[in-house]
Amino acid sequence: ENHFTKDLPLKGKKILITAGPTYEAIDPVRFIGNHSSGKMGSELAEVAAGLGAEVTLILGPSHVEVDEKSIRLIRITSTREMYEAATSNFEDCDVFIAAAAVADYKPKNVADQKIKKSGDITLELTKTEDILATLGQRKKHQKLIGFALETNEEEANARKKLEKKNLDFIVLNSLRDKGAGFQEDTNKVTIIYPDHQVKFDLKSKKEVALDILKEVIDLLNA
Ligand code: CTP
Ligand code: CA
Repeated sequence: ENHFTKDLPLKGKKILITAGPTYEAIDPVRFIGNHSSGKMGSELAEVAAGLGAEVTLILGPSHVEVDEKSIRLIRITSTREMYEAATSNFEDCDVFIAAAAVADYKPKNVADQKIKKSGDITLELTKTEDILATLGQRKKHQKLIGFALETNEEEANARKKLEKKNLDFIVLNSLRDKGAGFQEDTNKVTIIYPDHQVKFDLKSKKEVALDILKEVIDLLNA
């Protein structure tokens, strides 16, 4: 190995990343969404690009800034749009990282006019596409990484997702620690493999991104 490939260990690798929330329209002015900042996914994209990867970032509605010019940015709004962008770019990627906080449900019917206020109403919801699970079924040479946010039996639940979605590892976000999570600049994670796990300290999302990508590099070199 020469100096060059050591500095750019992801050179020649195509990495596809989803980030941010997805929004599901209720009517022309309202939606169902969540507070994801898109920060963890954008840090992953920037650090991966810095390590030499060819990065495509599929980003939901978020104010996060993506400075790195070499990143191919695909902006989407709904889960369906994220699904289409992810599935159409999956085949020739080497690594797929699902950092998005995808809406699990969407209104069964989207009103084409603004819903006027009257009495109480009930919204009927239907499940969105599970992007990561779909790609888990289509996986060939690709490495697949997911995230999990759990409030109870965290490790057991994350491990179930790892198996069910056919992942190489899953990154468990800690909710218990102050400073970790959605609108924060820091995160505390446990990386869970089928047969072992690695716990990390609370650190900046950029440093967490590097920890995750080091594990990815090990997987690619294994
Ligand atoms: N994910 C996805 N498509 C979805 C839902 C989730 O790609 N429709 C991905 C997320 O980006 C994350 C992983 O699947 O990497 C786990 O997401 P999470 O919300 O923790 O799990 P769910 O399978 O949605 O289950 P639940 O929300 O009920 O815990
Ligand atoms: Ca979910």
